[in-house]
Amino acid sequence: DGDVYKYYADGEWKKSTSGKSVAIINPTTRKPQYKVQACSQEEVNKVMDSAKAAQKSWAKTPLWKRAELLHKAAAILKEHKAAIAECLVKEIAKPAKDAVTEVVRSGDLVSYCAEEGVRILGEGKFLVSDSFPGNERTKYCLTSKIPLGVILAIPPFNYPVNLAVSKTAPALIAGNSIVLKPPTQGAVAALHMVYCFHLAGFPKGLISCVTGKGSEIGDFLTMHPGVNCISFTGGDTGIAISKKAGMIPLQMELGGKDACIVLEDADLDLVAANIIKGGFSYSGQRCTAVKVVLVIESVADTLVEKVKAKVAKLSVGPPEDDCDITPVVSESSANFIEGLVNDAKQKGATFCQEYKREGNLIWPLLLDNVRPDMRIAWEEPFGPVLPVIRINSVEEGIHHCNASNFGLQGCVFTKDINKAMMISDAMESGTVQINSAPARGPDHFPFQGIKDSGIGSQGITNSINMMTKIKTTVINLP
Ligand code: G3H
Repeated sequence: DGDVYKYYADGEWKKSTSGKSVAIINPTTRKPQYKVQACSQEEVNKVMDSAKAAQKSWAKTPLWKRAELLHKAAAILKEHKAAIAECLVKEIAKPAKDAVTEVVRSGDLVSYCAEEGVRILGEGKFLVSDSFPGNERTKYCLTSKIPLGVILAIPPFNYPVNLAVSKTAPALIAGNSIVLKPPTQGAVAALHMVYCFHLAGFPKGLISCVTGKGSEIGDFLTMHPGVNCISFTGGDTGIAISKKAGMIPLQMELGGKDACIVLEDADLDLVAANIIKGGFSYSGQRCTAVKVVLVIESVADTLVEKVKAKVAKLSVGPPEDDCDITPVVSESSANFIEGLVNDAKQKGATFCQEYKREGNLIWPLLLDNVRPDMRIAWEEPFGPVLPVIRINSVEEGIHHCNASNFGLQGCVFTKDINKAMMISDAMESGTVQINSAPARGPDHFPFQGIKDSGIGSQGITNSINMMTKIKTTVINLP
């Protein structure tokens, strides 16, 4: 039937022989919006075979040609920004303007990747043997970077396009093939992104996009012997994947509980603006969202008042109207957030606004006087609810931050750069932002989490390197 979006394999758009489909629920209307194919394990096997075959010749395609195709795909992606953004609005309720930004950012990422790739993959190393004790100058060692093979890319719902290209483009420039399993919410946007790569003219089988139920093809994909590397962004599933995956490199970016530590001397207007941006952009559904504010007691009242005033100005409503706060991705997500709110209420948190929910739409909520016995002090709501914990010393803030299982990003606000550096060193998180909210971008910056927040480092250069292996050839002189 015509209204089920086809999956992409062997350079063609296909209907699954399973005859089944998966419905994508519009978070705003809570009604089915699109349908995608529920691919079978047999179809995954075929995709893996073609990916393997296509990769062999792609690896031999000159680097400049690979870069040229990526530049072409980037341009096409940008041309299609309006149509792709519309999918993002309908599938994941991303505010209209942010949806366009995601696509443009993705085009830029693909071009940057092509440029970075020709530089870093165009270079190797040359070593001589006589620097190591006991050796004469009789061995010349040449190193180069070779592709890993088939890369499995699994992006999350919150950036179905950007976090798909951030895996796809590095994989391709480095000479790998790619099998993309998009999130269900966001699958159509991802398929449209793949369509742009299709139009750019990549060889058949090099890029595939399989849609379907995690229960049917999730483990099958991640444990597939044909996969040579997994790049995953998402939640706890990543921990399960890392336990089941074989002896292959993993790049994982999982959750975060990014702390915002506010010192007495901070510019509180700047802090308030960053808490709003960091805590409430895309309704808090970002792994890098500010997820807990740790503020020194003496400035807490002033800061909370400033944030409250700004929260009151946030527009709440449908993504089509470009509202600041839009419905969260699913009913189960809204229920989970509500559970955290109820727990905080029971345990005595101060509600700076009244809690309000209609369907999946949750009004922005600042919870003051949160204590460590409340779930919201530790868990990530992935919604527009932000806890404030008042602290009496910087050490208390650092202690809270480091007691978390997560360690993605954090931020510290102070005018004292020495203190900021000390706190950054003490915070167990992949990145610390000084005087700004956490963020992954610019997309060429290294991006990594420690503890349960991830494995490896992303960012354009790191991803290209991660998706290659060093190969050495040694010339032995007589
Ligand atoms: O949700 C996880 C993303 O990697 C965060 O990216 O900082 O650009 O929102 P962002």
